[in-house]
Amino acid sequence: MFRTIIVSNRLPTKVQRTSDGTLAFQPSEGGLATGLGSIYRQEGNVWVGWPGLVVDGEPEEQHVTEQLRQDSMVPVFLTEAEIRDFYEGFSNSTLWPTFHYFPQYATYEQAHWEAYVAVNEKFCRAVLELAGPDDTIWVHDYQLLLLPELLRRARPDCTIGFFLHIPFPSYELIRVLPWRAELLQGMLGADLIGFHTFGYMRHFLSAVSQLLGIATQNGQIETPTRTVLVDAFPMGIDYERYAQVAASEEAKQHEATYREALREVRVILSIDRLDYTKGIAERLRAFELLLQRYPEWQGQASLLMLVVPSRDQVPQYQALKEEIDELVGRINGQYRTISWTPIHYFYRSFPLEELVALYRLAQVALVTPMRDGMNLVAKEFVASKSAAGPGVLILSERAGAARELSDALIINPTSPHELAEALHEALVMPVEEQQQRQAALQALVSQYNVFAWTQLFMDRLAYAKIKQLTLATETLGPDTRAELQTAYQAARQRLLLLDYDGTLVPFQADPQRAQPDAELLQLLQDLTANERNRVVIISGRDRTTLQNWLGHLPLDFIAEHGVWLRTRGEDWQLFQPVRNDWKAEIRPILELYVARTAGSFIEEKEYSLVWHFRRADAELATVRARELMSHLTFLASNTDLQVLEGNKVVEVKNAGINKGTAAARWLSTIAPDFVLAIGDDRTDEDTFGAMPSEAFTVKVGSAPRSLARYHLPGVPDVRQLLRELMMGSE
Ligand code: UDP
Ligand code: G6P
Repeated sequence: MFRTIIVSNRLPTKVQRTSDGTLAFQPSEGGLATGLGSIYRQEGNVWVGWPGLVVDGEPEEQHVTEQLRQDSMVPVFLTEAEIRDFYEGFSNSTLWPTFHYFPQYATYEQAHWEAYVAVNEKFCRAVLELAGPDDTIWVHDYQLLLLPELLRRARPDCTIGFFLHIPFPSYELIRVLPWRAELLQGMLGADLIGFHTFGYMRHFLSAVSQLLGIATQNGQIETPTRTVLVDAFPMGIDYERYAQVAASEEAKQHEATYREALREVRVILSIDRLDYTKGIAERLRAFELLLQRYPEWQGQASLLMLVVPSRDQVPQYQALKEEIDELVGRINGQYRTISWTPIHYFYRSFPLEELVALYRLAQVALVTPMRDGMNLVAKEFVASKSAAGPGVLILSERAGAARELSDALIINPTSPHELAEALHEALVMPVEEQQQRQAALQALVSQYNVFAWTQLFMDRLAYAKIKQLTLATETLGPDTRAELQTAYQAARQRLLLLDYDGTLVPFQADPQRAQPDAELLQLLQDLTANERNRVVIISGRDRTTLQNWLGHLPLDFIAEHGVWLRTRGEDWQLFQPVRNDWKAEIRPILELYVARTAGSFIEEKEYSLVWHFRRADAELATVRARELMSHLTFLASNTDLQVLEGNKVVEVKNAGINKGTAAARWLSTIAPDFVLAIGDDRTDEDTFGAMPSEAFTVKVGSAPRSLARYHLPGVPDVRQLLRELMMGSE
């Protein structure tokens, strides 16, 4: 049976060395581990990750591996140096602060980056050892952003999902990272990339288009080899588990004990890992403000604050710990009475039954992170209350959960005033209103639970795969290459139709800089030296440029997408009579778009006008291009003009003329017994469409929706293919 292999940096079980030197196996904290903990054991799945300790020699490694294997886990061990540079370093001192909008805490260390690459490679080896060809690999979170691409390189066809559990920030933050392109490329190795909210997804798509220059549309990214889907999947919790534990005798017992100790005092609960993203210090100040503004709560309400130790070797976390200790000490020192403690503060983790008892006990849950990918504590509080029992959730607008839990009191966590007012409002809220809000929240948390979340993700991943298969052209692999080679060698009259930009040379921001290099000139020289070959450069460029760059070679040409032809040794001729008197009317419209879109410009050819937007801001240009297309298409209806969208260009030209009609002329005049047509953009589809079925048609770049039979990733591959053809042939 096919399995799902879950991969995350941290395993759901952490192993710790106790004071007497033995090993203790305990559940890990953190939303990823607790959230997925309920699903990984199903159907023979396995979870690959770090168990959280540095093992002491081979026997201990074996022991830990053996113990974890019994619970479907496979450990990846990290050395002390890797923990320092990969975990505390790049993951938690570079990515974590950047992705949570704390760039002032981010460090940029080359050594940390190198460790990040190396550990991602280590995870890749561990997964490859386990994964069969039909297994689904599901990679999680920011510590493993490079893993999807590493796996993809090793197994081009395998099914890979990726989910990010933290926010994906605005492009403005991502662009600061020196390794931004590599990180985005790493994620694009997946078939499906999931985020908690639509906002994070939008930021990711924007970063991909602005930093990698890859077009994205409706949550779909066309990479050179595959279509990658991107979507929002708000993660849920195992609702039933919390509801059941909440109803258990054990939890009720704990609750009764706590209640007895706290007497009648109202409980405001806060639970987080130690983290500056969680707004813990700000929360303490807001609680102090509540006591000042509404002194009636002194002696009547207490803040019960659990902080779970986390990443305490990272300097910012140490500083935060000190700040919290200091604030709690000061507030308690100032307000405490013999019979009342304002803040009950615990710096440790609690077992599930006790956590749930606390959720039950609390009237108010105070979840106020500055930024949080989702925040499962908010959902656990809701699930632990008995059906529609009273309770008020105060939730930060900047937690992913706020997108769903709109019946909470939603606040801006940076405003202590708003927070103090929300606290007061929660404490005086009529029970009926509390119940109404809770009922709505419970309906949501129970329905969109972690099982529904997993199902949605997996269904979408299967769809991503099917979509790739139905749309993909075939990779020009070794078998087809051999077939191509044989046909080439056997042929007496070969026709090679080669597009220029994006096929023979890479794109340049300035089209005039895409001159042929020495290697290309040599390649074309060699191809044309063989008298069985007719090599036609079939381009959208103007004839003068083609003439200047390549005119000295014995090539044939199609210029301006078929307006001009030049048979070798002859002069340029028009394919058919065409007009250009329409330019006077169209040019001012394009000029208007140039004025409105910084970085765009007009290229004027004899019989066409082109608006180029390669150098413009990618997102703005996409909007403008759509607008311009519809504007021009409207004007061009009932005329003999056509409007085409190419690779970062919009072109207006005479209708009825295209690369296909022009290419067909060579087919009829030279009657070839071997045809190879290669091109990269939409205008080349006309060429592919005009070719006989036995022709070898090759799309360069993104594969989907091409009329071509095969595809190649990029310019170097095209050159390589042409060189290969010439080897060993006459
Ligand atoms: N948690 C825990 N032990 C504790 C306190 C909290 O296991 O003593 C769990 C909590 O139940 C929740 C998770 O840690 O499932 C925290 O997840 P959340 O999404 O709120 O934040 P994260 O830690 O992922 O940033
Ligand atoms: C968050 C992250 C997880 C991480 C967890 C605990 O939930 O999204 O990837 O595992 O915090 O952090 P730790 O550094 O202890 O693994």
